[in-house]
Formats: sequence, C-alpha cells, structure tokens
Amino acid sequence: MKINLNNLRDTEKLGKIIAKCIEKGAVICLNGDLGVGKTSLTQFIAKEFGVKEYIVSPTFTIIKEYNGKFPFYHMDVYRINSEDDMYDLGYDEYIYSEGVTVIEWSRLIEGILPQERVNIEIKRIDDDKREVNIEGKGMFYERLVKELKKYENTVN
Ligand SMILES: Nc1ncnc2c1ncn2[C@@H]1O[C@H](COP(=O)(O)OP(=O)(O)OP(=O)(O)O)[C@@H](O)[C@H]1O
Ligand SMILES: [Mg+2]
Repeated sequence: MKINLNNLRDTEKLGKIIAKCIEKGAVICLNGDLGVGKTSLTQFIAKEFGVKEYIVSPTFTIIKEYNGKFPFYHMDVYRINSEDDMYDLGYDEYIYSEGVTVIEWSRLIEGILPQERVNIEIKRIDDDKREVNIEGKGMFYERLVKELKKYENTVN
C-alpha cells in the first residue's frame, strides 16, 4: 500500500504504528535514496518500541544491537560487499532470532532476505514530503496493513 507523509511528524506516526504491530522475529526492510529518511524512520520505530538509546546510522558497523521490548537490531548494509560478508557478521543469528531487525539498503542483500518481511520503499517528493510504499508477507505485515488502513481513515 502507498502512504503519503507530509513531514517528519507523519514519519513519526508511521514509525509508531509499525512499532505497535511488531512481532517477535519481525524483519523490516528499508530502501530509498541517500538521505531519504530510512534512519529517521528507524529511530521513530525504535523509540516507540522501547529503545532508550538514541540510534545513529551504523554505516561503519553494519549491525548494531539495542534493547527494546525485545532485542532490536539495526543494520545498514550500504557498505557491504557481498551477501557472504553478511553471514560472516552473524546475519543468520540475528535474522532468525526473536529480535526485531531493521535493514537499511536491504535491496543490496535481496538474495538472503527472509520471505516473511515488510518492505518499505521511501521516495522523496520535496524537502519534507515522502511517498512510502509498503509491501510484504506474513502476520506482521497483515497486521500492519490493517493498522495503516485505520490510520488512513482518520487522516483522510
Ligand atoms: N517526512 C520526512 N521523513 C523522514 N525524514 C525527513 C522528512 N522530512 C525531512 N526529513 C529529513 O531527511 C533526513 C533523512 O535522513 P536519514 O539519515 O534518515 O536518511 P537515510 O535514508 O537513512 O540516509 P542514508 O541512505 O544515508 O542512510 C533527515 O535530516 C530528516 O530530518
Ligand atoms: Mg541511514
């Protein structure tokens, strides 16, 4: 489904809805151009999910762990050279754990993403506006779509 965000506050609302729907083992894939708002959305999701620490872009570390309601893993695979490198970093253990995983630039590791996941593509419309496309598979995705439809009905 497609969602229009008019400003950062709307992105925060989206982050809250996502956090509310998260289930154990959820995988959230974020794509979109440099500086479009992937980390911002991650920060809002994490905050609502109970992560007390402020999330910064983990570009040089690739994977960072935080504690929320349950473990919260933030990956930024922009600088990864190959899917094999991900396994060397313990990718499997993160992805198939009970924690939540958010992956920025997930399309670069398309071949090793789990089937059940939520894909979020963010497009820049202008300085503040974003168009967000959400697709996915699995229980978490189904729940998210239901909540987002409710949200749409309240703003439109
Ligand atoms: N509606 C919006 N949603 C998200 N970010 C917005 C919005 N409006 C403005 N911004 C600004 O856009 C910037 C997004 O930066 P951010 O680091 O989140 O991008 P990114 O996609 O993670 O970049 P990178 O590809 O480098 O990781 C922030 O400065 C944020 O304040
Ligand atoms: Mg980022």
